[in-house]
Amino acid sequence: MNRRLLITGGAGFIGSNFVHHWCKNYPNDRIVVLDALTYAGNLANLAGLQEHENFRFVQGNICDRSTIDNLLKNENIDTIAHFAAESHVDRSILGPGAFVETNVVGTYTLLEAFRQHWQANYKPANYRFLHVSTDEVYGSLAPNDPPFSETTPYAPNSPYSASKAGSDHLVRAYYHTYQLPTIITNCSNNYGPYQFPEKLIPLMCINTLMGKQLPVYGDGKNVRDWLYVGDHCSALDAVIHHGVAGETYNIGGNNEVENINLVRMLCQLMDELAPNLPVSPAANLITFVKDRPGHDRRYAINANKIKTQLGWAPSVDIEQGLRLTVQWYLHHRDWWQPLLSEEYQAYYHKVYA
Ligand code: NAD
Ligand code: DAU
Repeated sequence: MNRRLLITGGAGFIGSNFVHHWCKNYPNDRIVVLDALTYAGNLANLAGLQEHENFRFVQGNICDRSTIDNLLKNENIDTIAHFAAESHVDRSILGPGAFVETNVVGTYTLLEAFRQHWQANYKPANYRFLHVSTDEVYGSLAPNDPPFSETTPYAPNSPYSASKAGSDHLVRAYYHTYQLPTIITNCSNNYGPYQFPEKLIPLMCINTLMGKQLPVYGDGKNVRDWLYVGDHCSALDAVIHHGVAGETYNIGGNNEVENINLVRMLCQLMDELAPNLPVSPAANLITFVKDRPGHDRRYAINANKIKTQLGWAPSVDIEQGLRLTVQWYLHHRDWWQPLLSEEYQAYYHKVYA
């Protein structure tokens, strides 16, 4: 059976990787991308897909109910893969309003539209609402705590993670109350091609290439569990095809690394792969800066459920994934240079000045 997917946030980092994954693996499925093209959305991420006859891009906001109603009906959508969000913790500290609007109100608007569409079509069992969420909803771990599982209580600490937690609760409630066939995934830190320069790994790659300081927050000992974005896409593929409605699946890379060690690994790769760096060795650029307010110490994911129930496991380890990523940023200056806009410089100044 061919699916008809509405992919929100498909011009962002993970969304665009997912669109490429889906078009490659399921060329007969219909793919409609809905994206507002905020600062984080970029049509260049979808280059080459416009010629694909089953692909359509629509610029629009997930808070706009009539746009969503029209797309669900006219495109006869059976699956929503919901990536659209404000996604950067530092921006949520500077201005939480957009996070509540898109992440909470936008998710509510999509759920309500999808519920009515599903009911109008007599509640088909194959419909799916996949809500792509984050491990940050579980809060922060101490060094010896066990990793987050699907039953870890929610304890979000930033405006970003609180808004994602709010959206997760709404999704859960729509299954519980209306039996809308929803699934939630909570994933750890992603990295790879098309990630906006504000996030740790692209920021370090780009600053190294420009000879700028590499700002490490606090003591650099915060821990994240890194997952290559292609592995996240294959996990979401497994969840859409085989996941059980009403369930939550945690997705992680089994790659816990302290930030400072990750930055040192990136510096070594840059020294090896980038000719004529402005500052060499790159590690000379590492600078410890003021910590992020409320900075979560450690995230780690227990991904046993998706492994045992859906047979998914990550295929790219951190050394391989970082090498692929550094090579990608080295060879795609034309992609990232235009993103260092005046707006981006103003944001950068606010966070790092
Ligand atoms: P991103 O910031 O790169 O992309 C977000 C996309 O959503 C952009 O294309 C943007 O234009 C679009 N968007 C924002 N507001 C919108 C609105 N109101 N209407 C329509 N489109 C809108 O984000 P990402 O890193 O690709 O994350 C995608 C999803 O995955 C998010 O829900 C995020 O919470 C979740 N997630 C991210 C990570 C990570 O490490 N990046 C890890 C786990 C979960
Ligand atoms: O855990 C999943 C989450 O991962 C996603 O839900 C978020 O959308 C995504 O942005 C990411 O959140 P983080 O805050 O963990 O990612 P970020 O890349 O901003 O930072 C990673 C770590 O690096 C974090 O401990 C903060 C630190 N850091 C970050 C930046 C940008 C620095 O030390 N210096 C920096 O300049």
